[in-house]
Formats: sequence, structure tokens, C-alpha cells
Amino acid sequence: MKSIAVTLTNTPKAKPEDESKLGFGSIFTDHMFLMDYYRGEGWVDPRIVPYGDFSMDPASMVFHYGQAIFEGTKVYRRADGGLQLFRPADNMARMTRSARRMCMPDLDEETALAGLKKLVEIEADWVPHQPGTSLYIRPTMISMDAQLGVHAAKHYLFFIIASPVGSYYKEGLKPVGIYVEDEYVRAVRGGTGFTKCAGNYAASILAGDLAEKKGYSQVLWLDGVEQKYVEEVGSMNMMFAYGNHIVTPMLNGSILPGITRDSILTLARQLGYTVEEKRLAIADIFNDIKNGTLTEAFGTGTAAVISPVGELCWKDEKLIIGGGEIGPVAQKLYDTLTGIQYGRVADSNHWIVKLS
Ligand code: COI
Repeated sequence: MKSIAVTLTNTPKAKPEDESKLGFGSIFTDHMFLMDYYRGEGWVDPRIVPYGDFSMDPASMVFHYGQAIFEGTKVYRRADGGLQLFRPADNMARMTRSARRMCMPDLDEETALAGLKKLVEIEADWVPHQPGTSLYIRPTMISMDAQLGVHAAKHYLFFIIASPVGSYYKEGLKPVGIYVEDEYVRAVRGGTGFTKCAGNYAASILAGDLAEKKGYSQVLWLDGVEQKYVEEVGSMNMMFAYGNHIVTPMLNGSILPGITRDSILTLARQLGYTVEEKRLAIADIFNDIKNGTLTEAFGTGTAAVISPVGELCWKDEKLIIGGGEIGPVAQKLYDTLTGIQYGRVADSNHWIVKLS
């Protein structure tokens, strides 16, 4: 493993005073981790430096052709004050899968993980204390060459920044309303839907903005071909409960293989729920809400954790799910997952990496 050079800041920032007002992703810590890749040389110069602006050529390829991929993971503070990560190696492995689709280099996962741990060690005091808060970690890879030809770049930058966060949605654990998007699509099979590339999120912003103007928190994407089948919400994968039976769209190449999705499916089986991954028609979901067999809907994601969905709107038909309240399945899974992440519940799956 390469050694990581560390330069500490002389001007540390004040930490947020009121952790109940953190929100999501607008405050950043004092340092960041950087590492460059040059074709022919590989990943070089892993370093931690004071958080600050990048100086980049306006012709840098990422600005024009969007070779940009990212990950999201979190540092959790246990009740005894110690810190821990949740499945961080899975994030680094997923970044390599995203990179391959985007014709970017495989990540040096070992050095990236060591850099993440070192950064967290330096920023330990930035990990918030209040229940439900954490330090959100954003590993990112971008193309750097100043070059307007549309080809794979030769120089990439990998960086990790960190942000103390509260809940992703202002609603917290209160159910959110989601608009089922029937005009725009997020991804098609053979495209980049399974990656965490910036373009997937860029393509979602217009629909998200229109949904917000209608009073919804986000959109639920349907498949890009027939616009019949449920895919994902963009910031989270979707699950539906029929009593103690949980169904979720199967991974088909256009849905993000969420690490929280995988964790919830594993925990659900271990808790005695039955789980099914399949193609889910939105018309069936609506019928099942109406006939009362579908009892709960919720999203899963690193940022969103488990986010109950209390209302779905599709083609101007609005349906309330579970009386607009969080249901017992979502609550149990939320308590179990966050219990493991914050060290209150035994981690029989060996997902936790203790840092202190
Ligand atoms: C995450 O859950 O970490 C994400 O990357 C989703 C989002 C905030 C874009």
C-alpha cells in the first residue's frame, strides 16, 4: 500500500454548533484526500491536504464530457464515542465497477480505503454526536486532461471530501411524497443506470425540480423503454411491503445496486420477512395500494437510510400508503440497520469497520 502524505490546515473551521440543524451536505470538514492517476503510471501521490478549491483548466474533460463518478458512505459515532464505517470496501468496489463502464481506471481500492480511514482519523471531531447524525463521505473520480477530443482521459483525480450531516429529507423519518415520473426517463438497459456517474443525477434534476414544484420530495423512475415498471428514486432504491413480504425491483442493469438495498434485503431475510426481487409494474403497485394488500412503501440509501413513502402520485392519481405513517416493517428494518451502524445491535454480517 502506498504511503499517504499529510499536510494539516493552519486555519481549522468552527464546527457546527447546533447538530439538530445539520441537514445534508452543505458543510465540509478541514481536509480532503487526493490521489492522481496517469496512464502508464497508475495511481500516484496519495495525500491529505487542507480542504480547498481545485485549480482546473477550463478544457478539463470532466467539464465537457462528464467522466465523473462518485460514492456515498458514512462514519457513525457509537454511544461510547468510538467511530465506525459501514461496508466501506463495497463502496470502493462499486466505484471500480462504475469506472469500468465510464472507461475510467480501476480505483486503487486499498489506498482509497486507507486514505478514507486516515482522513476520518484526522477529522474525528467532525463526526457529529446527536442521534441520527453522521459524517457523510463522498469519494469522487473525475477526468482532468485539458483536451476537447472525445476519448478516454489519461489523467484522473480521485478525491474524498467529508460533510457532517443530519437527515437527507427534511421530513426525517416522517413519510415523504413521491411523484411517479411518466415523461422523462433516468436510464435504459445498456446505459449507465447501474453506475454512480454524475450524468445519471444531472439527467434527474429537471424531473426532480418539477416534482418539488408539485409538492413532492422526489420522483420514482419507471423503466426507460415501456415506462411501466418501477426502477428507483435516484437517491434511493424502492421497496414495498405486503404485510411481512417485501418486494423490490430486481437489478436489471439500469438500477443502482444499492449497498443499503443489499443490507436491507439481507437483514429482512434474517428477521424472518420473505423477500422477492422482481419486475414490478406500477399499475400493479397502484392496484395493490387500492385493494389494501400493499401495506408499506419505503426507500433505502446511504443518505436516505430508510425513508418511508406515504404518498405516491401517478398520472394525477394520488394514493396514501399506510395511512401516511411509517409502518412496522420499515420501522423494524430502520431500527435494525441503524442499530448496527451506530453499534447498538450486534453485527453478525461483519459489515462494520471499527476505527476507534
Ligand atoms: C447516497 O445515498 O450516498 C447517494 O449518493 C445519494 C444521493 C445523495 C445522490
